Amino acid sequence: MPAKALRLLLAPLLLLAVRGGGAPGPEELLRPPARIGVIGAGIGGTAAAYFLRQRFGKDVLIDVFERGEVGGRLATLNLEGQDYEAGGSILHPLNLHMKHFVKDLGLSTPQGQGGLLGIYNGDEFVYEESGWYIWNWLKLLWNYGLNPLRMYMWVEESLDKFMRIYRYQSHDYAFSTNEGLLHALGGASFMQLLNQTIEEAMQKAGFSQKFINELVIPVMRVNYGQGANVNGFVGAVSLAGADRGLWSIEGGNKLVCNGLLYASKAQLISGSVLSLEEKTRQKGRSGEPAKHYEVTYHSKSGLTTDLYDIVLIATPLQRKIANITFQNFNPPIPEFSRHYHQTVTTLVHGRLNATFFGYQDPSQFELSSIFTMENPKLFINSIGVVSPVKRTASKTALGPSVWKVFSPESLTKEELRLLFSSYDSVLEKKWLAYPRYSPPEKSPPIILHDRMYYLNGIEWTASAMEMSVIAAKNAVLLAHHRWYRKLDKVDQEGLHDRLKTEL
Ligand SMILES: Cc1cc2nc3c(=O)[nH]c(=O)nc-3n(C[C@H](O)[C@H](O)[C@H](O)COP(=O)(O)OP(=O)(O)OC[C@H]3O[C@@H](n4cnc5c(N)ncnc54)[C@H](O)[C@@H]3O)c2cc1C
Ligand SMILES: *[C@@H]1O[C@H](CO)[C@@H](O)[C@H](O)[C@H]1NC(C)=O
Ligand SMILES: *[C@@H]1O[C@H](CO)[C@@H](O)[C@H](O)[C@H]1NC(C)=O
Ligand SMILES: *[C@@H]1O[C@H](CO)[C@@H](O)[C@H](O)[C@H]1NC(C)=O
Repeated sequence: MPAKALRLLLAPLLLLAVRGGGAPGPEELLRPPARIGVIGAGIGGTAAAYFLRQRFGKDVLIDVFERGEVGGRLATLNLEGQDYEAGGSILHPLNLHMKHFVKDLGLSTPQGQGGLLGIYNGDEFVYEESGWYIWNWLKLLWNYGLNPLRMYMWVEESLDKFMRIYRYQSHDYAFSTNEGLLHALGGASFMQLLNQTIEEAMQKAGFSQKFINELVIPVMRVNYGQGANVNGFVGAVSLAGADRGLWSIEGGNKLVCNGLLYASKAQLISGSVLSLEEKTRQKGRSGEPAKHYEVTYHSKSGLTTDLYDIVLIATPLQRKIANITFQNFNPPIPEFSRHYHQTVTTLVHGRLNATFFGYQDPSQFELSSIFTMENPKLFINSIGVVSPVKRTASKTALGPSVWKVFSPESLTKEELRLLFSSYDSVLEKKWLAYPRYSPPEKSPPIILHDRMYYLNGIEWTASAMEMSVIAAKNAVLLAHHRWYRKLDKVDQEGLHDRLKTEL
């Protein structure tokens, strides 16, 4: 294509002409921000620090506040000398931001483990995999007809649209609302997914109720601790999480957060942010007023305040989680009090009680993952064998394994005695894990104030590591464009078609 080639050749010349003879670009006119504050050092906050450094350059001071551990909901538990993922654990092969981080930070990913899955309805297994691949397919076909194949295609189609985000972001486009972001990816069909439950969405798409009850709901329960009433978008994300090729990070997923923080050359401040307030200060002798955000935080050295030009909030703004107050904002920053759902992770080193799961002959039991259907008498969402985050030379397969149980409440001694025929160590971690979804879903705003951005509203569309990174990149692009007044990169319509024809 000669025309295109010509444009390619001319492009640098055109740029030179504009730069050389013309007016200075907006970046040269406006002073760069001196200090940026990020609240939260989970995957969202640390990715934000990393992108901030890329965008705003080497001179800006970046502070990241964390009141707990770097990693947040990415955390490990140590059981008998080995670490196991206790929070966010699996990544999809098409989670491209996370993939790039792993590569850029020189981390590695161990081979995923196989294992047989069973789906338990509280009395018996409605579906059980065997070691024979073809047999599994025949069984699926027999039980659910073409539903599994159609689901695969349905998810694939949504995933295709979802992948547009990487193209938009690599061209620096940003969105000022989470709804706007989703709309740019999947148009009205994505917006509709937010307005209905996964059950309604799949019923409308012609999936059988049996398939929804026996396969879709168990996947929702393992990934989000909730059933068929989650919104259709998080439902689709959750189903994609049942795909092949899932991965995790050697040594623990939280290593990405540590790596990003280090690479960003941000300063980590161990402390709990209590409040935010806008302050106007006279700047220099000229007396030109400058607006800042005052962050008040509690750390080992007591109560401290610091001023920032831009603030990014990378934690759920929920009283039970972050409890940050916004002082003297006009109009006031609304409160986002909607619930986060509790999920309890329990690690148990022991032998499963196959009798509890309806096996007459426990020696026949070969499953390593059990998903469950909705049944009031069930006190667990799922249970499965897990490997430590550091793969040592594998021990013998015999003997007790480490099982990970997800449940809505802590397991009692009696419940543990039912689940396991014998066990020794038990460790538990309680999470306010993800939003309690209830469509029609409305996501909180990204722009809370002029230069104050909120990342975690995106969780109300779907909560996942990659979603937090997408939100981080979007917020950083948005903050940059708004600071330098490059509004032609914000909330643009028809991006998909436009970028198709762009070089
Ligand atoms: C049990 C479980 C399983 C999951 N499984 C998966 C999975 O398999 N795959 C997947 O992709 N996702 C999974 N997720 C979801 C995923 O873990 C989260 O979406 C993601 O980690 C959120 O990251 P974040 O940085 O946005 O928030 P967080 O990780 O919550 O980070 C927020 C940080 O802010 C800090 N903070 C809060 N308030 C303050 C304050 N006032 N001052 C200072 N610091 C503060 C917190 O201590 C925390 O470290 C799972 C989550 C849980 C709980
Ligand atoms: C979703 O529901 C909201 C009201 O809850 C409505 O305003 C909006 O138009 C709906 N969107 C779609 C695509 O149906
Ligand atoms: C939230 O903070 C306020 C004051 O900053 C405090 O009075 C309250 O107890 C805190 N609530 C929780 C749940 O931590
Ligand atoms: C195993 O499960 C059965 C059936 O629920 C129960 O009767 C038994 O007490 C459980 N525990 C052991 C150790 O077998």
